[in-house]
Amino acid sequence: SPSVRIAPSLLSADFAFLAQEARVVIEGGADLLHFDVMDNHYVPNLTVGPLVCAALKPHSSVPIDVHLMTRPVDALIDSFAAVGADLITFHPEASDHVHRSLQLIKGKGCKAGLVLNPATPLTVLDHVLGDLDLVLVMSVNPGFGGQAFIPSALPKIRALRRMIDEAGLNVAIEVDGGVKADNAFELGAAGADILVAGSAVFGARDRAQAIAAIRERAQQ
Ligand code: DX5
Ligand code: ZN
Repeated sequence: SPSVRIAPSLLSADFAFLAQEARVVIEGGADLLHFDVMDNHYVPNLTVGPLVCAALKPHSSVPIDVHLMTRPVDALIDSFAAVGADLITFHPEASDHVHRSLQLIKGKGCKAGLVLNPATPLTVLDHVLGDLDLVLVMSVNPGFGGQAFIPSALPKIRALRRMIDEAGLNVAIEVDGGVKADNAFELGAAGADILVAGSAVFGARDRAQAIAAIRERAQQ
């Protein structure tokens, strides 16, 4: 599939040198920076919040893609929008009022998306698909980098692609978890538009080469 965008996940970067790590992947061709927010409540891990996003923002010439793995979400939507998040996604089960949270994101001028865990069915999108800029399909259970890709994500991405195309909508499909050059071809062919990659990019000695390899395979 043509023009797949690559979003390196900073979760696997060296947080002591975050601006430098961001610069290396932006110069290496990253289209977005994926920023994972974990709260030790919705997921069993704790990362960083709006303060770190604010510090990173002046060092990023590409959009910042904030993936909220928190419960609840509304107060953090406000905080991340205020510090320059460009896209904000959240897990529908973590908001009491999913439609309201989506409107909150869009009202701040950010792009809005829902995140589907491996066991979350596509039917959660039924009444909100037209309100979304993107859907993030998790191909691991959220909480940690470096986990193995769950193959049931592939038929799910294909079904989501059909659902979006049949509705005539322009909703991007983003995939997160275990993405590597090895599975990028199948992901691109299934209809993914944006590939998140943490360990596959930051674990590589040459990050630019890792980004290029994923993009090349996804667009074959
Ligand atoms: C996991 C995070 C991912 C993570 C992916 O909960 O949402 O963004 O960084 O890491 P890899 O690409 O190593 O699976
Ligand atoms: Zn993520």
